[in-house]
Amino acid sequence: MPVASHSRLHGSVYFSDSDFRRVRELLHRLTGIALHATHRERVYQRLVRRLRALDFPDFDAYLRMLDDAQGQRERTRFVNALTTNFTGFFREPVHFDFLRDTVLAQATQRRLRFWSAGCSTGEEAYSLALLVSDVLREGSQRSAAILATDLDSRAIAVARRGEYAPESVPGMPAAQRARLFTPVQSGNRGLLKVRPGIRKLVRFRQMNLLHDWPAASAFDAIFCRNVMLYFDSATRRRLLDRFADRLHDGGYLFTGCAEAFCGPSQRFAIVEKSVYRKIR
Ligand SMILES: C[S@@+](CC[C@H](N)C(=O)[O-])C[C@H]1O[C@@H](n2cnc3c(N)ncnc32)[C@H](O)[C@@H]1O
Repeated sequence: MPVASHSRLHGSVYFSDSDFRRVRELLHRLTGIALHATHRERVYQRLVRRLRALDFPDFDAYLRMLDDAQGQRERTRFVNALTTNFTGFFREPVHFDFLRDTVLAQATQRRLRFWSAGCSTGEEAYSLALLVSDVLREGSQRSAAILATDLDSRAIAVARRGEYAPESVPGMPAAQRARLFTPVQSGNRGLLKVRPGIRKLVRFRQMNLLHDWPAASAFDAIFCRNVMLYFDSATRRRLLDRFADRLHDGGYLFTGCAEAFCGPSQRFAIVEKSVYRKIR
């Protein structure tokens, strides 16, 4: 088998510089995700499984098929294989405190709307739903709806199922855990299933943030946390502008605590690190 100069040998499949460049270009075109050179080994590990499953002899043949009109189904698998889905219940708890003490305390709408954009396997959306249902239960006439979207179809399937291993909720106080989940048996495994009253507040949908968004009424807050850090700055700027279009005036945008977007756009004021308020 010919080996391009600078190719690297991984088992019996070569992953050349040019293969990696093509993967980067395709992923960026499909998702806005900008891979770095440091991701190369991980990319190889994840994609070589697809090659083996489909019986492709090398990356060139696989990548040609992905670019082909017939490649639509595999493009979904390719994207699923390369996204990073790490998440957790009440991850970055400071945002949930802010939501309870400021956003929910100030909101005047009767029907509150939230968007978990890049929801992964659903933990963020269900955390929002639990918090909102706790607050609304305290005698208010208001109701709430949460839209939760992600590009990764497998992650959305997990989110819709709403069943989690007990190990995935470490340290959650017992009372909170009991309000959020009911124990279920799956084969000989005990799982935690999101209670129907919480589940019904959330609508999951597979959606690419780079594509058109369905028409929807404005949101009180958008959570897009630990998603935009994978995008290049032009994609991020466009997205911030589109988020502003979808927020009520004075609505809030939450990004991941480690994501610092200095001067995110002229449309947001920084309230505190990783919390932005729409100004126009
Ligand atoms: C690291 S997870 C963050 C999950 C959650 N927001 C949190 O902070 O715990 C990033 C998610 O962004 C999703 N994602 C990446 N690019 C996307 C795009 N273009 N459109 C929609 N979702 C995207 C990935 O599939 C992944 O599930």
